[in-house]
Amino acid sequence: MKVLVIGGGGREHAIIRKLKQSVLISELYAAPGNGGISCDVKCFPVKATEIEEMTRLAVEKKIDFVVVAPDDPLVMGMVDALETAGIKTFGPDKAAAALEGSKVFSKNLMKKYGIPTAGYETFEDYAAAREYVESLDKFPVAIKADGLALGKGVILPEDHESALRALELIMVKKAFGDSGKSVIVEEFLYGTEISVLAFTDGITVKPMVSAMDHKRALDGNKGLNTGGMGVIAPHPLYTEEVENICMRDIFIPTVDAMRAEGRLFKGCLFFGLILTSGGPKVIEYNCRFGDPEAQAVLSLLKSDLMEIILAVREQRLDGLEIEWYGKSAACVVVASGGYPEKYATGLPIKGIGSDGQLDCDNGESIQIHHAGTKCLNGEFVTAGGRVMGVTAVADTLECALDTAYTGVRQIDFENARYRRDIGRI
Ligand code: AMP
Ligand code: GLY
Repeated sequence: MKVLVIGGGGREHAIIRKLKQSVLISELYAAPGNGGISCDVKCFPVKATEIEEMTRLAVEKKIDFVVVAPDDPLVMGMVDALETAGIKTFGPDKAAAALEGSKVFSKNLMKKYGIPTAGYETFEDYAAAREYVESLDKFPVAIKADGLALGKGVILPEDHESALRALELIMVKKAFGDSGKSVIVEEFLYGTEISVLAFTDGITVKPMVSAMDHKRALDGNKGLNTGGMGVIAPHPLYTEEVENICMRDIFIPTVDAMRAEGRLFKGCLFFGLILTSGGPKVIEYNCRFGDPEAQAVLSLLKSDLMEIILAVREQRLDGLEIEWYGKSAACVVVASGGYPEKYATGLPIKGIGSDGQLDCDNGESIQIHHAGTKCLNGEFVTAGGRVMGVTAVADTLECALDTAYTGVRQIDFENARYRRDIGRI
């Protein structure tokens, strides 16, 4: 099969490196890819959100199967466009991707089907939202723009004043454009966050190994929220008992609810969970693999990823056994100084060989997943906030972390920054 992966971050690099091992794929491509991905496969310079152009590219190159990895194209309907053009895809269609594309939709779905989540109110009217926030006597709260907002649409105000500022930012100043037409004001939940990615064909749901993301920019969970600064898998607090509860109360009910609503969800469904004193609850759904969760989780996948992807599309996940290495994985992200705010790009990266991997031979236990990099005449330069992730697999979490950090210390560029407490907090 000729397979194209859409996207250009660390997640896509992880998907591509896993698909490269598949016996079912003869030719593998990416669009737009990045510096590291271009060492592994040929990249086409088409943006992930260019639906028409991407469809044209896939038809012209006679691609058999497209994996749509990022949220924006999924929410915009990339899968619908490709399938209409006769190309098979992995990822939910537009109707199902609303699970991530509209927080109002997902909250209402959870309420309707009794799926545990934080209590909430939704508002389209600024005055009504203000009045509600003024009446609150418990802080913090979570204020969320309805639509996609590059991961910045969730604000956690500690008092009335900052909550009102958040509403103004979203609804009046329209900081997130149309994504802020509706807002959710939500009860604040306390507990450990757990990411569970799951393969689903709309009927069967098969969770992957759980993961713990580290979203804040700085050590000690301080600083601004980011896309994710590092991940460990499996999550130490995700016991079999918790998994059984999640399966019964959250995973199966969500897939069933989507089917009942006529929005069959096929692809990777990401459950952002919080383990509260009252049991696990859903903080958010994503309609795709997490980044950097995918880097760690897919490193633990033993089965052929393409075989799973085909089973999802053909709705025969039920009969497929998915195998995992019973090991631990850690991914530590090396970011540009200043991320997630302002940062420089175009800085030469040292420590990476011409294959995009670490200069020193570390065997197969360590991989570099490029995110914001470009390859110029065989040399890598920075091109984004999260530059690359160093992912290690080992028998124990401690060993995976040690190996990942050994790799991280070999990479250098001006103002490079990483958290030193991934997996240790
Ligand atoms: P999101 O952009 O939806 O991933 O949310 C960003 C982060 O905000 C989450 O990972 C949580 O840490 C936090 N968050 C969102 N909603 C809540 C909530 N209801 N209670 C506590 N924390 C929350
Ligand atoms: N790491 C969280 C996400 O991918 O949304």
